[in-house]
Amino acid sequence: MVRVGIVNVTGYAGAETARILARHPAVQLVTVTGRSAVGQALSSVFPHLADLALTVAEDLDDVEVAISALPHHASAERIPQLVERGVRVIDISADYRLHDVAVYERWYGPHPSPGLLDEVPYGLPELHRPAIAAARLVANPGCYPTAAILALAPVAAHIEPQVIVDAKSGVSGAGRSLSLTVHYSEINENCHAYGINGHRHQPEIEQELNALRLWSAAAAPLDVTFVPHLVPMTRGILATCYARLVAGWTQPRLLAHYREFYQHAPFVRVVEAPPQTKQTLGSNYCLVFPRLDERTGRLLVVAAIDNLVKGAAGQAVQNLNLMLGLPETTGLDALALYP
Ligand SMILES: NC(=O)c1ccc[n+]([C@@H]2O[C@H](COP(=O)([O-])OP(=O)(O)OC[C@H]3O[C@@H](n4cnc5c(N)ncnc54)[C@H](OP(=O)(O)O)[C@@H]3O)[C@@H](O)[C@H]2O)c1
Repeated sequence: MVRVGIVNVTGYAGAETARILARHPAVQLVTVTGRSAVGQALSSVFPHLADLALTVAEDLDDVEVAISALPHHASAERIPQLVERGVRVIDISADYRLHDVAVYERWYGPHPSPGLLDEVPYGLPELHRPAIAAARLVANPGCYPTAAILALAPVAAHIEPQVIVDAKSGVSGAGRSLSLTVHYSEINENCHAYGINGHRHQPEIEQELNALRLWSAAAAPLDVTFVPHLVPMTRGILATCYARLVAGWTQPRLLAHYREFYQHAPFVRVVEAPPQTKQTLGSNYCLVFPRLDERTGRLLVVAAIDNLVKGAAGQAVQNLNLMLGLPETTGLDALALYP
């Protein structure tokens, strides 16, 4: 059994990682940290994790791999010490996702440890499997970018530069910390757009889709308009993406192309009806529905994920499996909950 630790189990992403690892057959979760719960039994903070019989510690014990679920900045302050100790790390925060430090600093402010940026693969297994398997530090993608990139990656080199990503998220995407926006009486029976003047996940979507365009002759960079919305549900992201394909596509060709692109991706399902967030609840699947509107010639792709699983903890465990040379699906076989 490989010894694994979680840095910051007290947030939603950390707790969800612990839930998945509790049933992982090849790793043992041996240590968890969490600033507000040091010294407390994990079962008293999260009764659903009682099987783990762990006490929340101030620092990680001896582990081979750590999954960090700290907020950005706090993560990049902590991770270099772990990497220096020889611990392989998966970072669920945004700190190592953007390859260009100037782009990072435009959206997040000064980077606490930019020295590691050059070596860190973007941890979307469907695009970067070999680099993830070999890495000592992997940057787990953001939740919205996971849905948007998986929706558009197969056609990234075949579309015109103007792209729109209209996405909806459940409130767990905002984390466990309290704020007025996620107060029950504010979000219940309500729905609103936010980040209208720019959202931090937009450069991540552009970075990955533009990398897929590099080899293409039509390679003007994509210009992505990304508008997130908050909806009154706990989990789930639905991303509806709009673009224009260059000539020569039909719906059957589009579907066959998506199926071929994802033929070796166990967690991406290309579906023939618009997916619903509930169809992914608690699972690591991403459901992708590509559709060519023959009346307008517009491409429409809808993707659904659970933001805490494929959008965070499940994807971190998928990356962990790759880093350990295990089958990518190990410990991630849960089907979605229904209803
Ligand atoms: N929620 C999602 O759907 C999602 C998806 C993808 C990625 N992520 C990323 O995952 C990370 C955690 O997000 P989350 O949603 O789990 O957040 P969260 O539920 O709000 O948890 C954040 C926790 O971090 C701790 N914390 C805050 N500042 C800290 C600091 N300076 N040092 C140490 N601990 C600190 C606090 O724990 P204490 O109360 O114990 O101090 C807080 O409860 C973030 O980087 C986020 O961007 C989240």
